[in-house]
Amino acid sequence: MQFLLQHSSTAQWSTRYILPCIFIMIASSGPVSAFHAPPVMTGLRSAFSATQTTSIVGGRQKVVTFDRLMVNIGGDFHPDSGRFHCRIPGAYYFSFSVGKFPKKILSVILVKNGKEVQAMAYDDYLKKGRKVQSQSIMIELREMDTVWLLLQPSPQYALYSNAGPYIAFSGYLIYPDVSTASYINNHLAPPGQSYPHCPPPADPQVRGQTSEQARSAFSVARTSTLIGQSSRQQNKRPLTFDVEYINIGGHFNKTSGLFTCRFPGAYFFAFTVGKHPRKAVSVKLMTGKGDVQAMVFDDDTSKRREMQSQSLLLSLRRGDTVWLYSQQDERYAVYSNQGRYTTFSGFLVYPEAELFTPSTS
Ligand SMILES: *[C@@H]1O[C@H](CO)[C@@H](O)[C@H](O)[C@H]1NC(C)=O
Repeated sequence: MQFLLQHSSTAQWSTRYILPCIFIMIASSGPVSAFHAPPVMTGLRSAFSATQTTSIVGGRQKVVTFDRLMVNIGGDFHPDSGRFHCRIPGAYYFSFSVGKFPKKILSVILVKNGKEVQAMAYDDYLKKGRKVQSQSIMIELREMDTVWLLLQPSPQYALYSNAGPYIAFSGYLIYPDVSTASYINNHLAPPGQSYPHCPPPADPQVRGQTSEQARSAFSVARTSTLIGQSSRQQNKRPLTFDVEYINIGGHFNKTSGLFTCRFPGAYFFAFTVGKHPRKAVSVKLMTGKGDVQAMVFDDDTSKRREMQSQSLLLSLRRGDTVWLYSQQDERYAVYSNQGRYTTFSGFLVYPEAELFTPSTS
């Protein structure tokens, strides 16, 4: 989550000077192209991040609300009601972390428009301990869509927080909707305005690349558990998925479980997996034939169910594959059900740098 915020501040210079130029270049290469620019360059902005510094007990309130607002670009998030109202249609990434209250069950659901369950953070360990569970997904929103975190309406459930804040909710626009061409006009400079810092227009070939690249994002979930099975097969099978929230570019194949990179660049990946009662969990983020890039692990074989999350950025070349691998052994499992505990998301943050540097030759 943090990386984008950092990037947006370091990208301030380019936002101010390069951005208008890019729009001019794009404008001259056709109306749809503006949306192929990477997220921070489109000029359409929506981002929020908020935390809650007190615990919330289920029953008294259903929606998780927030008392500290760190970022609210566009003003689309309303901390007092806990609701995000979509202003700019497009693909949004949401992530949340919640504290588990001692001796209570933790269950928080990301909902859209009051009914559609998107994904869940869960922990039914009724011990005294406190800890944090996280979840993240990317979903497509239309204007007026509303997203919030739903707490189970029963005092058995609670979220823990204190001044430390344990409870955090963030979301931001990754790709504005392509279908509404009018967006471009809204964000182009008024006629006649000039941009002294603009480099000379790139040659048509570079422009072609700029408009071809740019969008890649997927977010998927599993609605069933996978129990590991020992097999003599040498090759590892990727974890597959049955719910597709988003698949921009179609680069993720949920049947095979493989993401295949089409646009070289820096990609963000995040996954959350549920731990099955009496099983351990060991899930690795793999590239290629099985190079481990990151993993989650929990070998507590008690009957509690909980979740583990992990995320990182990877630099990918065209044709690179990224997938999740759950240990193939009876002791291990990935737990999920209609609550969609197990999720996997990834998106292109920055296409390879050369493509955005106009050639000087
Ligand atoms: C997705 O993967 C499945 C299983 O490997 C394969 O049969 C199918 O052709 C793939 N789909 C695409 C669009 O590549």
